[in-house]
Amino acid sequence: MERIFHCFLLIHLFFSVIPECATASIVISSVPVYVTSKVDWWFALKHCRTHYSDLITIRNETESEELGGYKGWIGLHRQASDGVWKWSGGDENASNIIWANGEPHSGEDCVYKSYIRLKSGNCSHLKYMLCTEENLILVQEMKTWEEAYEHCEELSAEGSMRKYTLPNSFASPASNRKKIRESTTTNEVWIGLRFLADKWFWLNGKPVSISHLPNCPPPMQHCGALDTNDNKVKIMDCSEKRNFLCSMKP
Ligand SMILES: *[C@@H]1O[C@H](CO)[C@@H](O)[C@H](O)[C@H]1NC(C)=O
Ligand SMILES: *[C@@H]1O[C@H](CO)[C@@H](O)[C@H](O)[C@H]1NC(C)=O
Ligand SMILES: *[C@@H]1O[C@H](CO)[C@@H](O)[C@H](O)[C@H]1NC(C)=O
Repeated sequence: MERIFHCFLLIHLFFSVIPECATASIVISSVPVYVTSKVDWWFALKHCRTHYSDLITIRNETESEELGGYKGWIGLHRQASDGVWKWSGGDENASNIIWANGEPHSGEDCVYKSYIRLKSGNCSHLKYMLCTEENLILVQEMKTWEEAYEHCEELSAEGSMRKYTLPNSFASPASNRKKIRESTTTNEVWIGLRFLADKWFWLNGKPVSISHLPNCPPPMQHCGALDTNDNKVKIMDCSEKRNFLCSMKP
């Protein structure tokens, strides 16, 4: 919320849209969280954003099937009956919504998952909620290692309990690696690996066991990145600008 307000101010001060406001980022991995408290849609939205990332997005049947039999509010709603359906995660108009037969109904502006398909419901009715927790994000902006570090930390501060940092590892499932490779605009992406005080360390303080790291790297090679082509750690000049990953702190 703070960031949106900030952008708003900038736009008004300079009368032009400042591209930096529109942070381009892609969720590399997320996990669904099923919350069994019965609440109205607005409360569900707030709860999911405070404790996790957002209400969940369900774009097709495959995604819905992966959630099994869970039912509850999801992140789809419209402002009024004549409005456009939108996903809570952005301004994007929803398309190809997998409605159940006979759905949606007028006067019902919020959406819940029922079995596989979706139904409209009265936003003030009480239902369980399906949240999503984004645990690995690729930020498609060019930043130095320090700037990237700060960006991840700032993601934590938007009225949410979840905290992010540069990742403390470079190991990731193959599906994540593929998504990172396909979405990054740079060959390397910064991770939370740093040479300081004569030692390599991960941001969480865990020991680094990567055999090819030099004990005494040249001054211009004190930061670690993931080379997205071969999925190996590459050491680089911290002042170079690259895309980067932010991962949720455990
Ligand atoms: C469902 O959506 C996911 C994520 O957007 C996509 O990867 C997958 O191919 C889609 N599946 C179908 C059957 O459309
Ligand atoms: C969403 O739909 C509304 C109404 O149809 C339209 O005015 C608007 O341009 C659309 N926005 C996007 C991003 O497609
Ligand atoms: C939604 O539910 C509330 C509470 O049950 C009710 O007061 C309201 O009239 C309903 N709205 C519509 C459009 O049916």
